[in-house]
Amino acid sequence: MQDLNGRMAVVTGGAGGIGRGIAEALLEEGARVVVADVEERALDNAVGELSERGDVRGVRTDVSDFGSVEALASSVYEVEGACHLLFNNAGVTSGGGGKPWEQESNDWRWCYSVNVFGVAHGVLAFVPRMLESGEPGVVVNTSSQDGGIAPVPYASVYASSKASVSCFTEALAHQLASTGSDVRAAVFYPSGGLLETGLWTAQRNRPPALARQRERAPAPGTTFEEFKKQLAAAGLPTDTVDLTELGRFVLQGIKDGKFVISHGLEEAADLLHARADAIAKGELPPAARL
Ligand SMILES: NC(=O)c1ccc[n+]([C@@H]2O[C@H](COP(=O)([O-])OP(=O)(O)OC[C@H]3O[C@@H](n4cnc5c(N)ncnc54)[C@H](O)[C@@H]3O)[C@@H](O)[C@H]2O)c1
Repeated sequence: MQDLNGRMAVVTGGAGGIGRGIAEALLEEGARVVVADVEERALDNAVGELSERGDVRGVRTDVSDFGSVEALASSVYEVEGACHLLFNNAGVTSGGGGKPWEQESNDWRWCYSVNVFGVAHGVLAFVPRMLESGEPGVVVNTSSQDGGIAPVPYASVYASSKASVSCFTEALAHQLASTGSDVRAAVFYPSGGLLETGLWTAQRNRPPALARQRERAPAPGTTFEEFKKQLAAAGLPTDTVDLTELGRFVLQGIKDGKFVISHGLEEAADLLHARADAIAKGELPPAARL
């Protein structure tokens, strides 16, 4: 996977934000890209704009629905004939943070249906085909340092969904390694600064069937501007990340054969060591700061 020219990539949630940055970086390298996203208008706009840069096609896909992801995989193998890079990137918040006991059952259902089942569906639909093809491949699952490294306590549902993604990807990587195939898995932690993406308005894609039952004021820090203020107040940097640059970073991580693709791994390791020390003493491990 040193040369991505002509390789076939699928990016879920690629109509905007981090997924779009990955799609842009892929096109720069001459890869062919299928963007799969639930948001039809954003998908059409993204594909329209990206098509000036290379070979790209959009397939409306709801990753929470296995039939939809299976149809995506069938279409990719029928039309493009291969998938070398699968980015299971689509994700949502749980619709705002707050106290764990104030989250509703539908907050869990929606968040898990996209973040956890979405990744599961991508693996179920694509990995058997990728293995059968005998070609090299990489499955990159987008997790979050929130949950993947340590939970942000006010984002408990989201954090637990991303802990699930990280844990599952590790198991997947071990199992893929045992097949002796050239298909592997990696976990991606979007990082490197503040990410100004549509995640802050993820509710726009929330299905009515999984709407909240009770009205409640959003928890503090659940808009981009509030979050930025919180970071500034805590003396933390508020520089935003260039999303195409982040896409390039992910591709470099793939070329380098990394399992964990993330900025700031030394700080993450410090936190993980502190967590391990606490766990070894039977104590509550320290949480992520923000
Ligand atoms: N933004 C951050 O700070 C941050 C940090 C760590 C991890 N992440 C993760 O990065 C990934 C991308 O998020 P983002 O920040 O770019 O947000 P975003 O909202 O800009 O992008 C997410 C994309 O997923 C799509 N999507 C939502 N539900 C879907 C569904 N059911 N099926 C298919 N597509 C669906 C959206 O339409 C959108 O295009 C997510 O997994 C997110 O959890 C984001």
